[in-house]
Amino acid sequence: MEQIEQQIINLREKLQYWEYLYYLKNSPEVPDIEYDLVMAELRLLESKRPDLLTVDSPSQRVGGKVQNKFFQVRHKVPMLSLDNIFDKSGFMIFDQRLRNRLKSNNDIVYCCELKLDGLAVSILYNRGVLVRAATRGDGNTGENITANIRTISTIPLRLKNDDNLPRLIEIRGEVFMSKTGFMQLNTRSKKEGNKLFANPRNAAAGSLRQLDPAITACRPLMFYCYGVGLVTPNVLSDSHWEQLQQFKNWGIPISTYSSRCTGSTEVLDFYQKVNNNRSSFGFDIDGVVIKVDSLRLQHHLGFITRAPRWAIAYKLPAQEQLTQIKKVEFQVGRTGIITPVARLNPILVSGAIVSNATLHNINEVKRLGIMIGDTVIVRRSGNVIPQIIGIVSSKRPENALQIVFPSQCPICCSKLEHSNIMLRCPAGLVCAAQRKEAIKRFVSRLAMNIDGIGDKIINQLVNSNLVTNPADLFRLNADILMNLERIGPILANKLLHSLKKSKKTTLARFLYALGICEVGYATAVNIAASYNTLDILITADIKSLKAISNIGPVVATNVYNFFTKSYNLNVIQDLLSPPIGIRCYKSKPAYLEHCKKK
Ligand code: IVH
Repeated sequence: MEQIEQQIINLREKLQYWEYLYYLKNSPEVPDIEYDLVMAELRLLESKRPDLLTVDSPSQRVGGKVQNKFFQVRHKVPMLSLDNIFDKSGFMIFDQRLRNRLKSNNDIVYCCELKLDGLAVSILYNRGVLVRAATRGDGNTGENITANIRTISTIPLRLKNDDNLPRLIEIRGEVFMSKTGFMQLNTRSKKEGNKLFANPRNAAAGSLRQLDPAITACRPLMFYCYGVGLVTPNVLSDSHWEQLQQFKNWGIPISTYSSRCTGSTEVLDFYQKVNNNRSSFGFDIDGVVIKVDSLRLQHHLGFITRAPRWAIAYKLPAQEQLTQIKKVEFQVGRTGIITPVARLNPILVSGAIVSNATLHNINEVKRLGIMIGDTVIVRRSGNVIPQIIGIVSSKRPENALQIVFPSQCPICCSKLEHSNIMLRCPAGLVCAAQRKEAIKRFVSRLAMNIDGIGDKIINQLVNSNLVTNPADLFRLNADILMNLERIGPILANKLLHSLKKSKKTTLARFLYALGICEVGYATAVNIAASYNTLDILITADIKSLKAISNIGPVVATNVYNFFTKSYNLNVIQDLLSPPIGIRCYKSKPAYLEHCKKK
């Protein structure tokens, strides 16, 4: 062997060993500067002798070119998903079902793992060298993301301890982002004026789908292996847990939290332990994956459509976090109801950043006994809507402030009406906040379905007084629209076309679009079914309205009162007569009839 070749091999081995110590053992042996100097020396030698360059060289992690698309990869062994259970009885049923199938009442040995909240990937090693990586895709076909996976420092480009390696092995696992990595990435993105990610999972997905691997390389991605796809020849142990330990010996990252459990009690204890410690992992998990440990038994149990019978995901309950209330603001809704909203120090709860939570009404604020500066417990109800479920009184700071309810509307300054739990701005469409909400309802999908007119455009139209009521929307023209931010001729024409198209509608949609208090879409359909035309409805007396089935006296009164107000009648008159000329059909308009037949 030439001297330069030997030198290159030595440098690569040195760097690989340091990377292993740094990323997998968490115990760096040399300062970063020394690593960088050796890497520079390797790059220099490789540039002198490009014929000696190999794909598994540590210098090649970010060597991939910018692509213009991802190529498809067909998985030789499909990448399956998992069925879910949510409670102890779900697990007991699963365990019993397996014992019935195995015709044995003995305790089953399971391998229990964290259910990482990221993206499944498959990484193929040929004679120990990383040759291809792919996303899960639909389970049968994924996308080739080799260049991006190579940038993840903990994923070995060449497996260690080559002696016992199969010729071909497809390592499967999850790419994810730590909570701190995610927070730092978002802070950086904010500074640079880039889009923020909603949660670590989205950030990991967005980072893996970069066509430029240099961008992926700057993202704090992590990887844990949890299984295997294709292996030839199969030199692996019959125990899934032992396989994972084998992979670890080859330098593949695995979670240290996996545990072999015998029987249901040990599994349930593991689940409890994970649940108690979940906030300490530093990354999001959304459950525990319970797998039959023996590969022979896994094979015997087999699959049902897209999920294995031998594994299940036991989901964790909704997560709670502590954070502080910075201030409380008051929002004005479509019907003038004022809602207190707590502005919070941003906090990650069940995978999403929460910075606001509704406090609903005066009673709720009193019930919680909240003050500004308080530390509160936040949960995402149904794992979606953020909710404050209590305060930690022991953490109340000395300078905590009382929440003062406004006496005037924060938008239009009208004097607020006060019932015992609700505050309401009585200004109706005079109040800009209510006007915006009214327009949002009017254009919405179930109402007039005016495509393209979103919140941003509505804010601009109302703020600049171009639109004070729904009829004004139909008075817009291309010149006016093109004066708004980010609207060019193409979008302006599209919006005008949407407005024109919306003029043929149904009575139910129109009624719903008017935004009458407590008239949702189902109620609007119900009312429309009882009246042939809008004219008849407008002149209906309260008695006939109350006679509509499934409509209570409150809704009947709201409808009646709405049609007695001259302001409302004038807007309706404008909408229905030329030049606007909206046509309300009793049911589906004739021009849409053909859709039914399809
Ligand atoms: S095993 C046949 N183990 O969960 C078994 N999956 O809901 C296939 N996941 O697509 C997966 N952590 O992305 C397995 N320890 C773990 C996991 C895990 C996260 C994800 C994976 C999979 C999804 C299925």
